[in-house]
Amino acid sequence: MKATDREAAAHVAQLRQLVEQALPTLVHPAREPAELYEPVRYVLRSTGKRMRPVLLLLTAELYGRPPETVLPAALAVEVFHAFTLVHDDIMDHAAERRGRPTVHVRWDEATALLCGDYLMGLAYALLGQVEGAPLARMLALFHRMVERLCEGQALDKAFETRPQVSVAEYLQMVDGKTGALLELCLQLGGLLGGANEADLRTLEQLGRNLGRAFQIQDDLLDLTATSPQWGKPIGADLMEGKKTFPVLAALEQAPESERAWFTERLHRRFRPDEVPEARRRLERLGGLEAARQAVATYLQQARSALARLPDQPPAKALAWFLDRLEQRRY
Ligand code: IPE
Ligand code: IPE
Ligand code: MG
Ligand code: MG
Ligand code: MG
Repeated sequence: MKATDREAAAHVAQLRQLVEQALPTLVHPAREPAELYEPVRYVLRSTGKRMRPVLLLLTAELYGRPPETVLPAALAVEVFHAFTLVHDDIMDHAAERRGRPTVHVRWDEATALLCGDYLMGLAYALLGQVEGAPLARMLALFHRMVERLCEGQALDKAFETRPQVSVAEYLQMVDGKTGALLELCLQLGGLLGGANEADLRTLEQLGRNLGRAFQIQDDLLDLTATSPQWGKPIGADLMEGKKTFPVLAALEQAPESERAWFTERLHRRFRPDEVPEARRRLERLGGLEAARQAVATYLQQARSALARLPDQPPAKALAWFLDRLEQRRY
């Protein structure tokens, strides 16, 4: 590894550590009722990549704002993300998350709904704890993110039962469900650091492209992940009838027989034993390669947005972060 990469890696690890240490302290271990706080603590102690808070902290640093001074905002985006995962797992009938049973499986749906509600409220409380912050502007940005994320999630569910979904429609859905929060992390970091309006727009573009790359990779890993750190069942998207990028890309030019094979199974839901065959077909039809290409293309666009931002040391760490994402296995 180059010396600059080592520095970037160490710097990102330090920021992650800052988040990691703070998360479990958000809810006291003895707080009751246990029916509410046990699942909340379970989520706050689960191991995520912490990509969103790290992005916020790095962006704030890019504009000269020390990470410690914006930590509550970084915790807010991670806690909000955790909330979306708890509710997303109910919506997607998912049994595992971060290598453990999901909240609605470990407890029940009512518990998971309430746990999510609590985490969402906590996210707002944390936002309010940033000293000297432009709170009205932050809340407006935050709420716009909530709208777009919910719109994306609504489309994601609607596409399960829609026979035809185009790649353009897929991207619109992803810009909401995944891009909106990543854009917000970068923009909050910029806003808290005092970035100008032009840079805030560039940060938005960076986030959108990062969101597309990240979600297409997530779709790909749903079929190809081998790392235990992936922490989610393989083929879950097919079994839930999701119109993922590899499927859409493969079916765009596939012969009618292949289209029928996939459409029928997505409609009635793939069985677990059909997942390996689906993966082979998607490989043969070029869907996996198209997804890999799309990840590279959107990351490249994210890099060109980054190149328009201030040329300060944290930009090197952001660039390193984007490079690492391309190789991610979980
Ligand atoms: C999962 O996000 C949800 C998607 C947008 C695909 P992450 O892959 O960042 O999940 P954690 O936080 O690392 O568990
Ligand atoms: C991620 O969508 C978007 C949100 C959670 C808001 P997915 O449904 O693809 O995420 P995973 O695969 O369950 O992590
Ligand atoms: Mg899901
Ligand atoms: Mg989902
Ligand atoms: Mg997924």
